Amino acid sequence: METSVRIKINLKNFSYSLEGKPVLKNISFEVKKGEFCVILGASGVGKTTLLKIIDGLFKRYEGEVYLDGVEIRKLKPKEIYRKMGLLFQNPDEQLFATTVFEDVAFGPRNMNFSEEEVKKRVEKALSLVEMLDYKDFLISHLSYGQKKRVCLAGLLAMGHEILLLDEPTQGLDPVLEKNFLNLLLKLKKEKTLTLIMATHQVDIVPYIADKVLILHNKTLTKIGTPQEVFSDPKELENYSLKLPSIGELFFEFVKHKSDKNKLPLTVEEGKSFLKNNFRPIF
Ligand SMILES: Nc1ncnc2c1ncn2[C@@H]1O[C@H](COP(=O)(O)OP(=O)(O)O)[C@@H](O)[C@H]1O
Ligand SMILES: [Mg+2]
Repeated sequence: METSVRIKINLKNFSYSLEGKPVLKNISFEVKKGEFCVILGASGVGKTTLLKIIDGLFKRYEGEVYLDGVEIRKLKPKEIYRKMGLLFQNPDEQLFATTVFEDVAFGPRNMNFSEEEVKKRVEKALSLVEMLDYKDFLISHLSYGQKKRVCLAGLLAMGHEILLLDEPTQGLDPVLEKNFLNLLLKLKKEKTLTLIMATHQVDIVPYIADKVLILHNKTLTKIGTPQEVFSDPKELENYSLKLPSIGELFFEFVKHKSDKNKLPLTVEEGKSFLKNNFRPIF
């Protein structure tokens, strides 16, 4: 296996019960060091299940998942969570301590850092997710979006090299969503972070993804860059998805152009498309 490949998946079949129907089948892909990979698919398609398999939480399936070349089922939980952390879709599945500080401190304490280092890590992680002011709050007094941010802080405080994020922006307001995506991009630049993120929110994908995997009908239907997967609205409809809004807006313009301009998918790409294709009005 190439050394830069951190995660390799070759899943043949997974079902929740022994005699049950498959939930996922024939999914193969690799994630390289530093790569940002988005698993995109309609609700119920199996994104959460796939992330839990990658994190080693489900063990009964046909196929293999490798973390740095080692089959994940051969690794102890500690060996997995030193390298990789999963942000659960539902924060209540993840949070268990009474206060925000205690919850975020759990991971670094478990990694045997000194209490001084734990405090430093917790405060840094809470300020990255804009929750430092809530450090002594009871978890039960937080909103859904605040709980999601505390969960993310818990992962950041551990300093994982690989993050698995399950619908991380669900329940965040637009400003927090933007800040959160910027935070991920900053971490990507700074720390050779490797990321696998599940979402059904197409608009955020082009901002963040190097590679997009579309799950449909229990399997991996399409894989490519955002430009490659977001090209045909009819095809996306078949997967119960759609183009990102910016792409929808520009699709008709680009479709009729002979020079096959790339379809703008982000606000910045939209702005430069307008600059290059329309004479300024003023
Ligand atoms: N614990 C479970 N037991 C049985 N079936 C489940 C369980 N969790 C999820 N499923 C089923 O597996 C399928 C995939 O679910 P999930 O991975 O949560 O999809 P997604 O995250 O894409 O919305 C769905 O049909 C769901 O009903
Ligand atoms: Mg899910």
